[in-house]
Amino acid sequence: MGSKVFELLFWVSSLLCWACFAGGFTPADNYLIDCGSPTNTTVGDRVFMADNLASKFLSVQENILGNTSNAVTSSDDSRLYQTARIFTGVSRYTFSISQRGRHWIRLYFYPFVYASYNMSVAKFAVSTENHVLLSSFSVQAPFVKEFSVNVTSNSLVIIFSPSENSIAFINALEVVSVPDQLIPDTASSVESSSGFQGLMWQALETVARVNMGGPTVSFENDTLWRTWVPDQRFLVEKNLALNVSNTMAVKYVDGGSTPDIAPNSVYGTCTRMNSLNDPNSNFNVTWEFDVDPGFRYLLRFHFCDIVSNALNQLYFNVFIDSWMVVRDLDLSILVNILGGAYYMDYVTESATRNKLRVSVGPSNLHNTYPDAILNGLEIMKMNNSDGSLTGLGTVNTSGSRSKKKIGAIVGVSIGVACGVLLAGVLFMFCRKRRRLSRQRQSKTWIPFSINGGTSHTMGSKYSKGTTTSLNSNTSYHIPFLAVQEATNNFDESWVIGIGGFGKVYKGELNDGTKVAVKRGNPRSQQGLAEFQTEIEMLSQFRHRHLVSLIGYCDEKNEMILIYEYMENGTLKSHLYGSDHPSLSWKQRLEICIGAARGLHYLHTGYAKAVIHRDVKSANILLDENLMAKVADFGLSKTGPEIDQTHVSTAVKGSFGYLDPEYFRRQQLTEKSDVYSFGVVLFEVLCARPVIDPTLPREMVNLAEWAMKWQKRGQLEQIIDRNLIGNIWPESLRKFGETAEKCLADFGVDRPSMGDVLWNLEYALQLQEAVVQGDPEENSTNMIGELSPQINNFSQLDLSVSSAQVQVASVDDLSGVSMSKVFSQLVKSEGR
Ligand SMILES: *[C@@H]1O[C@H](CO)[C@@H](O)[C@H](O)[C@H]1NC(C)=O
Ligand SMILES: *[C@@H]1O[C@H](CO)[C@@H](O)[C@H](O)[C@H]1NC(C)=O
Ligand SMILES: *[C@@H]1O[C@H](CO)[C@@H](O)[C@H](O)[C@H]1NC(C)=O
Ligand SMILES: *[C@@H]1O[C@H](CO)[C@@H](O)[C@H](O)[C@H]1NC(C)=O
Ligand SMILES: *[C@@H]1O[C@H](CO)[C@@H](O)[C@H](O)[C@H]1NC(C)=O
Ligand SMILES: *[C@@H]1O[C@H](CO)[C@@H](O)[C@H](O)[C@H]1NC(C)=O
Ligand SMILES: *[C@@H]1O[C@H](CO)[C@@H](O)[C@H](O)[C@H]1NC(C)=O
Ligand SMILES: *[C@@H]1O[C@H](CO)[C@@H](O)[C@H](O)[C@H]1NC(C)=O
Ligand SMILES: *[C@@H]1O[C@H](CO)[C@@H](O)[C@H](O)[C@H]1NC(C)=O
Repeated sequence: MGSKVFELLFWVSSLLCWACFAGGFTPADNYLIDCGSPTNTTVGDRVFMADNLASKFLSVQENILGNTSNAVTSSDDSRLYQTARIFTGVSRYTFSISQRGRHWIRLYFYPFVYASYNMSVAKFAVSTENHVLLSSFSVQAPFVKEFSVNVTSNSLVIIFSPSENSIAFINALEVVSVPDQLIPDTASSVESSSGFQGLMWQALETVARVNMGGPTVSFENDTLWRTWVPDQRFLVEKNLALNVSNTMAVKYVDGGSTPDIAPNSVYGTCTRMNSLNDPNSNFNVTWEFDVDPGFRYLLRFHFCDIVSNALNQLYFNVFIDSWMVVRDLDLSILVNILGGAYYMDYVTESATRNKLRVSVGPSNLHNTYPDAILNGLEIMKMNNSDGSLTGLGTVNTSGSRSKKKIGAIVGVSIGVACGVLLAGVLFMFCRKRRRLSRQRQSKTWIPFSINGGTSHTMGSKYSKGTTTSLNSNTSYHIPFLAVQEATNNFDESWVIGIGGFGKVYKGELNDGTKVAVKRGNPRSQQGLAEFQTEIEMLSQFRHRHLVSLIGYCDEKNEMILIYEYMENGTLKSHLYGSDHPSLSWKQRLEICIGAARGLHYLHTGYAKAVIHRDVKSANILLDENLMAKVADFGLSKTGPEIDQTHVSTAVKGSFGYLDPEYFRRQQLTEKSDVYSFGVVLFEVLCARPVIDPTLPREMVNLAEWAMKWQKRGQLEQIIDRNLIGNIWPESLRKFGETAEKCLADFGVDRPSMGDVLWNLEYALQLQEAVVQGDPEENSTNMIGELSPQINNFSQLDLSVSSAQVQVASVDDLSGVSMSKVFSQLVKSEGR
């Protein structure tokens, strides 16, 4: 009951938040003028009014309206450029503002010659009552200047002031409301950890608005009529960058961005570090922009991980000039979901050069592939202490600049204040929730992103001067001599596992890296081909939750694979059948989440889904920090190419985990792995073997037994008794539901590994949410009341444990799981 409410709140608040940010924005003030035009002009879905309709806003009586037939034709708004209004003296537009707050001011310029007026030589200033927008300004080409100012009175005045003996002109003009949330009052600051406050007072000029890795996004495809330009011309070294486009992946979620902040088409493309062919890449991708020294700039970075296949894969650093603004940025913990749109604001110090550089580069964290992305970037110039956006002197606005006026207006209208208050409360609510959820997330998620585990020590130091028989992955090659040395010449006392293919040795490379060495039986020519394929495949999978290949050796007819060593052995050995201390519920959840990540990556991280085919607790290994890694992954085949004989051999090895649908349809899919993983989940919860022939008949098969209790809603009756009193009902319920879904009869009804991952994370949050509160307060709710049945079961479970040890040890290789490569090699010899 309580958990239902909790969950409901979770969703309602997410929805509410979404609603208050998203949705089509309708500007309260919307002045669009096609200056000099005799008729209304439609651009996209907006109508720019004819000049004569706008004359009521204008202070001048003199009408000099120019037109030209050779205006640009390429852009969608070209019709706006065909006419212009020309000013020979100081002139003002005065717009009444129905809703105070930030407004766009967009000025369209295209100089042409009309009568005796040559607009190319025009020189003039544009200002509002409080801010100088342009001074000594002249234009040679079609140009839109975009500003945004917070209008704090009920009118906005825009003043055009020609320089001496010159003229001013304008082709089109926009004054349009901006959603309040677009520019919040605070931003991070490169100088101070406390950040920058007071953006509400800033006039901003858009210096650059860039869609990284993609095409121009025109105003017609932007809810706030902004134009985003491609980044090619800003890239310092184009060859270091790749374009990525995956618009379908973009998700707007609570705690992230909204379509008003930037459209899908911006988040759906990015420029990515070109490191795909070199895991040792170490360089930045850099963009350079022209700026005016003496001004501060507001930078808005748009990020969306459209390149990863799973959460917690992408870590990178972000720089503004030489400042590192974020180290090891992990979007996973910020938006909680792959493809979640996210943005960050930074205020620079006052620029000292006329160039501003923005870079992204690889993180130094262990176990991360060098990579970095940027999806979009906005650079906005901030006014200086004189309220000016231009460095040049003050402008003659005929004394209309008046700061007194602002003071008088503040807080005048109670009606407006109420409206603002209401919006503010809603906004604060959203902000608060957002902050809360971030805090919670970071507590829950950070351990995963930081526990780097063993670093990947590539065999590159051995790569020179060795055999060329496997030319594809020479960097993984390790000389036989080094393998002999590492294993004390295959010392029998160093054997940690034995299987059909040969033995697994513990070893240590000469740089101290601990490894697990699998030595296959002498090979045939046929075996060599498979061995080679497997190495190629394995070397492409690099993920923190997959046991990684460190190298191989094929000298002297050997077939040796060298993996990272997993200090804590198999998950299975921590659940039952050994004297390891019992794992806590949180540890178990984290292990399941890690393994789910690894499997999710296998299913989605490669061109074709890779099916593991032998998911079981003995194939989930734990490193020294109990971080889970899935073993034997590269040895599986991609879906359609499955060789039936191999499938059936794999099947035999893992009775109890096997997908029933496989029997029916003889077809293996990713969902078979999901089924097996569901069995692992129950195994983790109940800490007993998946098949235990010594138990009463209905209990022999864990999957059946657990499903029976789950369907009755009494799963707590059969959980590991070490968990009793330490597991929250909400968390258990979520976990049980997840496992149940994995065990659905038909593959189509089972969730994807991505969904499983999400649900497990949620189960962890449910556990954490309560634990982080007051542990005493709710202790009566903790699962603890046991029926007699439980105690009986637990005793029963214990009583058979010695028998289990033997059963378990058959496929439990204490630290390194058996490799199907070898079993397949052996098999293929016989074919
Ligand atoms: C031109 O646009 C204005 C509003 O911007 C509208 O009131 C007027 O009816 C339009 N005129 C024509 C001829 O469409
Ligand atoms: C400018 O407008 C006038 C009146 O509408 C028209 O006669 C003339 O052809 C136009 N000139 C150009 C260059 O478009
Ligand atoms: C207008 O001014 C530009 C820039 O000075 C010049 O190149 C052009 O020839 C002028 N055009 C006319 C018709 O005077
Ligand atoms: C505009 O300024 C007023 C103060 O005059 C402030 O209350 C309001 O939040 C600001 N609006 C925005 C969007 O910054
Ligand atoms: C808007 O986006 C759609 C699809 O992304 C594209 O087909 C269309 O050309 C775009 N429109 C403009 C004006 O760029
Ligand atoms: C990225 O796309 C742009 C055009 O949108 C193209 O000019 C550029 O060559 C592309 N870069 C790469 C590395 O493909
Ligand atoms: C990336 O740029 C920053 C800032 O200029 C610099 O400190 C860092 O060394 C660069 N990293 C690489 C790998 O070049
Ligand atoms: C920008 O102008 C406002 C007054 O409109 C002022 O309060 C603010 O400090 C100025 N910004 C900077 C960075 O000096
Ligand atoms: C400012 O402009 C007004 C009107 O054009 C003019 O009368 C006044 O002399 C100018 N003041 C200065 C300081 O240039």
